[in-house]
Amino acid sequence: MTKTEQQPVAILVPGHFNDHAVGRIDRTFRRIGIERADPSLVTDEMRETVRGIACFGGINAALMDALPRLEIIANFGVGYDSVDARHAGQNGIMVTNTPDVLTEEVADTTIGLLINTVREMYAAEKWLRDGGWVKTGHYPLSRLTLRGRSVGIFGMGRIGLAVARRLEAFALPVSYHNRRKVEGLPYGYHATLKGLAEAVDTLICIAPGGAATEKAINAEILSALGPNGVFVNIGRGSTVDEAALAAALANGTIAAAGLDVFADEPNVPRALLEAPNTSLLPHVGSASEHTRRAMADLCVDNLISWFSERRPLTPVPETVEVSSRAVDPGRPRHSS
Ligand code: NAP
Ligand code: 8YV
Repeated sequence: MTKTEQQPVAILVPGHFNDHAVGRIDRTFRRIGIERADPSLVTDEMRETVRGIACFGGINAALMDALPRLEIIANFGVGYDSVDARHAGQNGIMVTNTPDVLTEEVADTTIGLLINTVREMYAAEKWLRDGGWVKTGHYPLSRLTLRGRSVGIFGMGRIGLAVARRLEAFALPVSYHNRRKVEGLPYGYHATLKGLAEAVDTLICIAPGGAATEKAINAEILSALGPNGVFVNIGRGSTVDEAALAAALANGTIAAAGLDVFADEPNVPRALLEAPNTSLLPHVGSASEHTRRAMADLCVDNLISWFSERRPLTPVPETVEVSSRAVDPGRPRHSS
């Protein structure tokens, strides 16, 4: 809370939020719930008092513009593709995310999803539970294996690197594609995603969503991956042309896919649900109590640090400059 105000700072929280984060927000701020992040639901009271938002993404420019006193958007999650961070930066609004605290968890999930995709763990367990082992005998041998594979990582950032280190322990060669080569890494760099897909038979996407990666995994990339190809997506569903992926799985362009994220969550295209060569998870990359609590703490700590010291802990690149601006908390951010 600031010294200049008697009232606790008002924080808008759209939809159902993380319980631990809500508890901490309630102990420090005045929480204002709103059904969803929709500017048409903003009341006069919200307009006059809201100075922060805590959210699972989904904050567009219109909502920011509807809240003239808004100073900070604390996103719960490292990916903030559904927050218009550029608009926030241009309008003096800080955006924070939750990097690092989820990196190892998401990397663990990625490896689990990869193994499940090639070795059919879920189908084999279902076989046992459904009595197939007793009635029919051994589960059929898996068509695919990790042995002999060569892995390409699309998005060699914090999580990509944690995945690569795990893959080293599996004795699998790793290479990657980013826009920029990361100096000092022992992995081969490909300047294009197509070049990476041509060089490997297993492609793991852990790149951020957003316009720059929209449908980057398309028919051409899947064709480059080839008929023994395995595609794993733990990044964002928007990065994949799902119709092209479903076609590639159906016609043998690639062998299998493991997906934790989808373009229109929670809706998953029927073609992917029904494909026998997909392993599908409901966006659970970071979803353990341990890691979600750490994310909640970082989300709320960003709000506390901002309103007590004007110093965000983990600002996103588009808004790092905002932190250095002097803000008078008594005045609206802009007059409208
Ligand atoms: P990060 O450290 O920022 O890494 C992102 C990497 O992607 C960077 O190395 C970046 O390198 C590369 N990249 C960004 N845009 C690119 C582009 N247009 N083309 C090629 N490469 C690009 O982020 P992180 O912490 O590893 O998280 C990565 C993403 O994982 C998040 O944004 C989120 O979408 C996703 N995620 C999913 C879950 C889940 O539950 N499934 C959980 C956490 C995170 P360059 O800038 O050099 O291109
Ligand atoms: C979360 C994520 O599931 O951090 C991210 O980018 O995708 C996940 O950790 C999501 O942000 C909020 O539930």
